[in-house]
Amino acid sequence: ARAGVVVVGSFNVDHVWRATRLPRPGETLAGVYSTGPGGKGFNQAVAARRAGADVRFVCALGDDAGGALARDLAAADGIDLQAYASDAPTGTAGIYTDDAGRNSIVIGPGANAALDAGFVETHADALAGAAVVLAQLESPRDAVTTALAHARRGGALAMLNPAPADAVVDAALLASCDLLTPNESEFAALLAAHGHAVIDDETVAALDDGALHALCRALLPQGTVVVTLGGAGCFVSHADPARFGDAGPFARIPAHPARVVDTTGAGDAFNGALAAAIALQPQRAFSAQLRFASRYAAASTERPGAAASMPLLRADA
Ligand code: RIB
Ligand code: NA
Repeated sequence: ARAGVVVVGSFNVDHVWRATRLPRPGETLAGVYSTGPGGKGFNQAVAARRAGADVRFVCALGDDAGGALARDLAAADGIDLQAYASDAPTGTAGIYTDDAGRNSIVIGPGANAALDAGFVETHADALAGAAVVLAQLESPRDAVTTALAHARRGGALAMLNPAPADAVVDAALLASCDLLTPNESEFAALLAAHGHAVIDDETVAALDDGALHALCRALLPQGTVVVTLGGAGCFVSHADPARFGDAGPFARIPAHPARVVDTTGAGDAFNGALAAAIALQPQRAFSAQLRFASRYAAASTERPGAAASMPLLRADA
């Protein structure tokens, strides 16, 4: 069997202000400050690790306190962190959260922007030999495309979480994916950018199964698309359901109930847990893997923070 998950992506130091509600433009609110580890890449690596997978995390860090934090936390979780040493400061994120568990985020990429294809190339063997290679788009597109291409070449599952929504996904990057996991707004952005449909995220959420499946097939003819729909669960559309042990070409999986405290990193929890589940139990039906990922993500929303909120919950328990 193939060993583990390689995550290629970002690390950020998250600066979080919690207020009763999110600020409007021009408004000042008082809230409670906290800081902790984040970045979509790191959050997903921690989730995959705490869900039981062997994890390598390929990233770029500054020579500063944030970089040291990433190394210490990765070691504490047993993650094999491989960092390009950048002159730029370690990535940061400013996050506002409200009493409903919602958030608004601005990131300062910093060192994350220095992760390049050349550094990713030095991990070619690990990428090709993994069960799953998982990337997001807080890192440069060239680095991500290179990582997924090595995964493909070696027979690893090439998985892309196309977040954040404003990232540019070109045809070459789409063509390198076996598994794509947009949320509803990222899905809408991808459809528009690739000439398939001009619809907003609310329209995506309201589509029936047949219509959603058709759009997924148009966007990623060769692979599987999982559209995450927040509290409404997720929708999976396969090119080849048999490859993933699913009976039908599409299915809807309900969200797992949660007492939501903070949804920051919930999408990351879902992606990391899904990657771990596929790596640990490749024979299991994909819909069962999705139910595990939903349960894992729900548990992450019951605790504050991003990486720090990832539960210890094994996919193969
Ligand atoms: O997905 C949540 C993450 O987005 C936060 O941890 C923040 O760092 C941004 O990358
Ligand atoms: Na959380």
